[in-house]
Amino acid sequence: MGRKMGPTPAKTSKKKNRGRREVSSSCTPKMAAAAESKAGKSPEELLCAAAEYGDAEAITGLLAEGADPTHFDASGLTPLMHAAAGGHAAVVQLLLDAGAPWNALSPTGNSAGDLASDSATFDLLLDHALRSELVLGTVARRQAGPADSPAESYLESRVSFSEERVMDADSKAVMMEWERPLMEAHARAVCSGGKVLNVGFGMGLVDTAIQRYEPEEHTIVEAHPEVYARMLKLGWGEKKNVKVVFGRWQDVLPQLGSYDGIFFDTYGEYYEDMREFHQHLPKLLKPGGIYSYFNGLCGDNAFFHVVYCQLVALELANLGYSTQFIPLPVKDCLSEEIWNGVKQKYWQLDTYHLPVCQAESEPEQ
Ligand SMILES: C[S@@+](CC[C@H](N)C(=O)[O-])C[C@H]1O[C@@H](n2cnc3c(N)ncnc32)[C@H](O)[C@@H]1O
Repeated sequence: MGRKMGPTPAKTSKKKNRGRREVSSSCTPKMAAAAESKAGKSPEELLCAAAEYGDAEAITGLLAEGADPTHFDASGLTPLMHAAAGGHAAVVQLLLDAGAPWNALSPTGNSAGDLASDSATFDLLLDHALRSELVLGTVARRQAGPADSPAESYLESRVSFSEERVMDADSKAVMMEWERPLMEAHARAVCSGGKVLNVGFGMGLVDTAIQRYEPEEHTIVEAHPEVYARMLKLGWGEKKNVKVVFGRWQDVLPQLGSYDGIFFDTYGEYYEDMREFHQHLPKLLKPGGIYSYFNGLCGDNAFFHVVYCQLVALELANLGYSTQFIPLPVKDCLSEEIWNGVKQKYWQLDTYHLPVCQAESEPEQ
């Protein structure tokens, strides 16, 4: 569990990166056949070489003979990464069908999708990753019991506050000042008059921004006792249009109404928790209302992030909501120093994708 939730890679190569460029893909299949001598090479090494050169025939043969598609070669790359980097879509498909993990990471933290050199290969990997995550999520939900419920320990532990951040007891950042422009953009997205709900106060950045739009009613749900105490100390309990609700959103749902704008940004919860929150949107969001959430899912890997943007959009679409992602450059908000003393660098991408979700319009009669 970190500031933001997301999947963990299934496998990571332990190898250190040895050079800037990770793969070379300039050979043709014929050159590959000529260049690769079978003598002295393991089936997996041959598989990586054939993947690099896009030799689908060799791949089919090697897989049929039992070559392992999950293998990492000496430079820490898998056959799938080689094939993706070479833009060999047919080979990528063969390897995926044989069980090659889409979420394996190279020594520099790249997955096959990050290395894909053309849109056909990228789309294949994205489609496969989405389907895998959908299936895995369904299986995990079927198997989950009460012991799987997260976040309890965060809510029971101490947090510390400074101008720049709120930290948990494990030196992980609950919220950081660099996110202020993002929170201001989220407030702009969800404030169009009427009633606004924000779940998760943190540093109060989004709530401060929401207040500037003078909503008719501004409800804030916060579950951590120390964050709640600080909110009250800062006067949030006395603002005319503000209603502060203390408790986990899961527990205080009956106290909530319906809103014209909703923002969701909790800490220490999993993707599944946000997914569960989304199941309540049809009750919480008024027709025509706007919903947005902090989109920190897999903020340390560009491809995983795309997968999770698409996954959430798909799941919201199943509930009848369309999602648009507004790209916001964040490179300038981030410097290495801001992470000093923070255990987990939860965001490492140059662009933030701000989600704007709305109920899909009724089909015309
Ligand atoms: C990342 S911070 C929110 C930051 C906020 N958007 C801002 O602009 O400062 C997440 C907040 O959610 C709270 N939280 C965590 N789990 C919660 C839950 N189940 N219900 C309500 N609040 C929760 C945390 O205590 C924390 O204050």
